[in-house]
Amino acid sequence: MNEAPLLQSGRSRLDFMVSASRGLGRLHGAVRQQVDALGIAPDDLPDDLDARDAFLCDQLAGSDAFHAADALQGYLGKEHGRVARDAFNEIAPAVLPELEALEAKGPATLTVDPDLVMPDYFDGVDFHSTLGGWDRHEQQGYIHGEIVHRLMVAKVFPLGDMFAQRRAVLKELPRQDYRDILELGTSSGHFTVALQQTFPDAHITGIDLAAPMLRQALRVANEAGWAWTLKQMAAEKLAFADDSFDLVTAYSFLHEMPESAIRAIYREALRVLRPGGSLLIADITPYAVQDKMTMWRADRSATHGGEPWWRESAMLDWAAIAREEGFADATGRGIAPKNFPWLVEASKA
Ligand SMILES: C[S@@+](CC[C@H](N)C(=O)[O-])C[C@H]1O[C@@H](n2cnc3c(N)ncnc32)[C@H](O)[C@@H]1O
Repeated sequence: MNEAPLLQSGRSRLDFMVSASRGLGRLHGAVRQQVDALGIAPDDLPDDLDARDAFLCDQLAGSDAFHAADALQGYLGKEHGRVARDAFNEIAPAVLPELEALEAKGPATLTVDPDLVMPDYFDGVDFHSTLGGWDRHEQQGYIHGEIVHRLMVAKVFPLGDMFAQRRAVLKELPRQDYRDILELGTSSGHFTVALQQTFPDAHITGIDLAAPMLRQALRVANEAGWAWTLKQMAAEKLAFADDSFDLVTAYSFLHEMPESAIRAIYREALRVLRPGGSLLIADITPYAVQDKMTMWRADRSATHGGEPWWRESAMLDWAAIAREEGFADATGRGIAPKNFPWLVEASKA
């Protein structure tokens, strides 16, 4: 898909958000140096996350960099969704005809479920503080996938090339012959593209709660000529028969929900996998493998940055939970050098 043809005012506001995000990264670096200069050893920090945060806030009370970082982070969180939506509204008359034509083009299909009841943990939440969350703007798939993700987040993502990472995790899979793939949390289709490029002969089914996100995935697939089957559905209640897929996978998904949902999703994944089929989940780095300062930074960014389930999810041992829910051989490991993304791999006996 061509880069969103932003107009000058949308482009300049977006460029400002990107520069400000780069500045935020430098402020975080300065705060880290100040913590070191104060002689605070990460291992001596309180174990409890709230107590650790209170301790560090107290220690950093005189730090201009710390307060500037907090203020800038709050501003970016609140504003980035509005900036992206305004930038989209400016180009809507020019791009909507093409977006609508792409939806109708085929060969991909999208089935929406007007009766779907959204889970409480999802409904009405502005995930990442993005205005409208995943589903409260008809064009949120384009706004998030093409403007927020591609033109903002990808330019400042601190852990490398976001899109290359999606392709790289698929090299970790134990088989090369997947034919029926189910992706959970397809969203606007960034990981789905990597899946189809890696397994060109496979048929991909993608599900997501958010119909506006799936509509963007539909356009991406149709433009490339890929026959994806997209369905609006909760991953906890998959409307597929037992033994339907030989790979069930998700990228950047489990950190957006509570443990109860994660457990239900593992049970469903196991049910719809064929014997011998694989599970591959790629997500954020669990707190258990982070040092206490890195964990503090991640937790503070998440709790102040519209990630209501990040802490609960990051404190889980996702592989142990997968074993408890029936994947006997489930293991977890991080991709070097920073344990990101974190992978949970398992198979159905
Ligand atoms: C961070 S995005 C996924 C990103 C995407 N996989 C990628 O590679 O860019 C999370 C997605 O999960 C969806 N989602 C959250 N909870 C869900 C659930 N229980 N069932 C299905 N989709 C869900 C959201 O609507 C959102 O589109």
